[in-house]
Amino acid sequence: MGNQGTGYDPELYARRRSSFGAAAAEYAAHRPDYPAEAVAWALAPATGRQAAGLHVLDLAAGTGKLTLGLLALGHRVTAVEPDPAMLDELRRQAPQATALAGSAERIPLPDASVDAVVVGQAIHWFDQSRALPEIARVLRPGGPLATLSNADDDRVEWIAGLGEVSPSQVSYLGWATRPGTRLAPDPAFDPARDADFPHTLRRTADSLIATIATHSHMLVLEPAERDEAKERIRAYLRSRPEVSEDGFDLPLVTRVQRCVRAGG
Ligand SMILES: C[S@@+](CC[C@H](N)C(=O)[O-])C[C@H]1O[C@@H](n2cnc3c(N)ncnc32)[C@H](O)[C@@H]1O
Repeated sequence: MGNQGTGYDPELYARRRSSFGAAAAEYAAHRPDYPAEAVAWALAPATGRQAAGLHVLDLAAGTGKLTLGLLALGHRVTAVEPDPAMLDELRRQAPQATALAGSAERIPLPDASVDAVVVGQAIHWFDQSRALPEIARVLRPGGPLATLSNADDDRVEWIAGLGEVSPSQVSYLGWATRPGTRLAPDPAFDPARDADFPHTLRRTADSLIATIATHSHMLVLEPAERDEAKERIRAYLRSRPEVSEDGFDLPLVTRVQRCVRAGG
């Protein structure tokens, strides 16, 4: 955990940003999905005109967690993702989507070609000064741009303690010097609104540790350091009465920010 609290480290940031592909199958197996109400709220400015069948861009789509939620609501999805291993896994998970290699800073789509853009758990990996104009280019006026992220609900005491033994939050990188998880104000978009959607994920101690192991802060560790971190988390979980051997509900909250492409 060498860089904890020492401020923004561009080299570590770059390694974390490209770390996910090494654990693509585990990511697909263990990371939480997004609640349907959160996805519906993200798209609401566009679904006011058309309930299903929107063309939605899932940007930084990873293994397709959000893509699957969009497909389930009856939308047509183009998924864009830079990591080849994540993209391969997405093609396995969501063969109905159009999967394209690309990034937020260079989106392989024509101007004004999508009704909505969603970003799951990835806005903090974008260079927003380049990504927001790219998103504005491909998004039709009046269409929503929404970011969704699943966070452990650390208003719950034992979850806050879990965060302390496995520092997984973006603050770990001292991201005060970067745009972080907030959408930056941009003249192409109306100001963002926020909504939180609490939900739970059924876990065991093993599956929770497997989930945490798909986070970039774990993926970039040396194997011995990673094993040590897992043991620390396991010892903490053993100490908590909430963590039953038969399984338990992990409290999560999906945080959504939504803004609308100006000019609609
Ligand atoms: C934590 S994963 C989220 C994946 C998926 N959206 C989800 O909700 O599960 C972050 C993803 O962002 C991708 N990524 C990183 N930098 C990116 C960029 N500049 N543009 C687009 N995607 C990026 C990574 O390759 C990774 O698949």
